Amino acid sequence: MSVIRAVPIGVGHYLPSRVVENAEFEKWLDTNDEWIQARTGIQRRHFAADGELTSDLAYAAALDAIKDAKIEATDIDAIVLATSTPDQTFPSTATKLQAKLGIDNGFAFDLQAVCAGFAYALTIANSLIVAGQAKRILVIGAETFSRIMDWQDRTTCVLFGDGAGAVILEAQTGDGTANDRGILSCDLNANGKYNEILYVDGGVSSTQTTGVLKMQGREVFKHAVTKLASSGEYALEKAGLNVDDVTWVVPHQANLRIIKNTTQKMGLSMDQVVVTVQDHGNTSAASIPLAMSVANKNGQFKRGDLLLTEAIGGGLAWGSIVLRW
Ligand code: UT7
Repeated sequence: MSVIRAVPIGVGHYLPSRVVENAEFEKWLDTNDEWIQARTGIQRRHFAADGELTSDLAYAAALDAIKDAKIEATDIDAIVLATSTPDQTFPSTATKLQAKLGIDNGFAFDLQAVCAGFAYALTIANSLIVAGQAKRILVIGAETFSRIMDWQDRTTCVLFGDGAGAVILEAQTGDGTANDRGILSCDLNANGKYNEILYVDGGVSSTQTTGVLKMQGREVFKHAVTKLASSGEYALEKAGLNVDDVTWVVPHQANLRIIKNTTQKMGLSMDQVVVTVQDHGNTSAASIPLAMSVANKNGQFKRGDLLLTEAIGGGLAWGSIVLRW
């Protein structure tokens, strides 16, 4: 049976040039490189320069993905941009990116699901392609979390970084089996009962300020491993596959211990997992496409490989995608 599949045809990323090593934080906080590495796996992260905006990061990542896909920007007919750190309250960062890319038609919008943003964005983009609403979608995760840090809070400010990653999905015909290339299944979840364990204490309608990130890390950690493992397993089941079929896991890069525990819980090997958290920190919605792009540039992915990606973050919101490269 012939079906439409959303197939990745290009992937790219951008990291701001400023690299901040763990030791930097020792200058003003009661923390150290040893603690940060042991508890999180993070060694360094990138921070955007003054005046460098989320749309600038997204633009650079988009150009990289467009080059990888060997298409023109104007071949893209939709942009779905996941971010919790937009340039402005409105217009959307996606429309700013659209203008920078010189695209005059199609549609563009932002999507906000915090660290699960890219899983949500891929799911929405997949639905749009399958429904015939768009043929080539630029799916972006772009963040400047350095702008919402409390620099006196050692429990959060050492964890996050800035960056952007992009994947271009194209409508292609598949035969409806799990051997097709492209997105094979998606699983999205949210439970707003947990709003208060990870949030920003400001906003347009509440304080008219941007606010800073607040997190009960240990609580989030507990939810992360179980929810990610069960979502990943469910997404595989939906695609008619199981863990033995997985070639690569591209997890949200928040904490190496979460990644290891989830991998172990699912019965997968760390050799199959793309890990970039040591160099990027947690870049929220940007972390999965950043990791995908880095792995692709390293030559890790082969055509036909089965990828499982999973993410969880504020909301709580979480989800998984199964796709064949
Ligand atoms: O991407 C969105 C989703 N977010 C996540 O997935 C993050 C999930 N959570 C985590 O990754 C971990 O919980 C953290 C990395 C945030 C914290 O690690 P932990 O092993 O859960 O540590 P903890 O919060 O239990 O804190 C242990 C100790 C505390 O001291 P006491 O109370 O035992 O005296 C903290 O105050 O470590 C202390 N601590 C620090 N020490 C040095 C917390 N942050 C730091 C720090 N440097 N930066």
